[in-house]
Amino acid sequence: MTSITTAVFPVAGLGTRFLPATKAIAKEMLAVVDKPLIQYASEEAVAAGMDTLVFVVGRTKNAIIDHYDKAYELETELELRKKDEMLAVVQAVVPAHVHCVFIRQSEALGLGHAVLCAEPAIGNKPFAVLLPDDLIYNKGGKSCIQQMVDVYKEKQGSVIGTQIVDRSESHKYGMVGGPKLSDRLSRIDEIVEKPSPADSPSDQAVVGRYILTPAIIEILKSTQRGAGNEIQLTDAIAELRKSEEIYAYNFEGSRYDCGSKIGYLQANVEIALQHDELASDFCDYLKKLNIEPSKDRLKLCK
Ligand code: G1P
Repeated sequence: MTSITTAVFPVAGLGTRFLPATKAIAKEMLAVVDKPLIQYASEEAVAAGMDTLVFVVGRTKNAIIDHYDKAYELETELELRKKDEMLAVVQAVVPAHVHCVFIRQSEALGLGHAVLCAEPAIGNKPFAVLLPDDLIYNKGGKSCIQQMVDVYKEKQGSVIGTQIVDRSESHKYGMVGGPKLSDRLSRIDEIVEKPSPADSPSDQAVVGRYILTPAIIEILKSTQRGAGNEIQLTDAIAELRKSEEIYAYNFEGSRYDCGSKIGYLQANVEIALQHDELASDFCDYLKKLNIEPSKDRLKLCK
């Protein structure tokens, strides 16, 4: 059985919603507490067994390449100062068995095009796609992509991560429809990119996690521009569905849309409340603001 060893991270977007913060740095390098967004996604992939990380970058994304490179000066300096813990944190960004590949997407033609750009690194094997904007957290349980890898192993078909949203939000997402197979799993009979609520097949939205069979690559080569005048991954998945069964999986966990300011702020609060060093002080601060943390978080307070 083919295992999923390659993860693609499309990170060529301009990040206009976070200007001016993203004028000179990639939005994926914005920190949630103390770690850049992209690293949450790469750690999720590595923990699920992936060892080839393919970053599809744009022209202004060199900070991402640097982040996944060896930092000789910094590492030497930390070694000299005997800051072993910090050194371990820096070196853990890319574990020894993991390879990083960087591919330039020279034109911003959409998510489908970004995935197609990764073709030379994907080969003829199933692969995962993770959109770092979607920070997905499953406290104490399996990560979203790990849950999807498990489904892939069982079904041997493409798996799309989904969650239930308010139908009025359908214009922000790819939306799917199809019969339910079990508690969290359904078959995709229909998938549409950013439909109006009236045209949406259901209230089940695609979030930024995909496991795709390699057949998607040939389809992407002839996929025409769709919603937003971009080459949409959703349209290629709709085409793939005609020849292969595709599954939608309502993952267990919480998703923070870090492509929006409010989602980014929520992620910071939630991650801070789980943070070994910060949780207690941060909890106290929230209490001072008269924000009462929920019961399960209260135990983090002093
Ligand atoms: C992309 C996909 C969309 C998906 C969304 C999840 O849209 O095209 O199908 O629902 O990610 O975050 P974007 O948010 O990049 O416009």
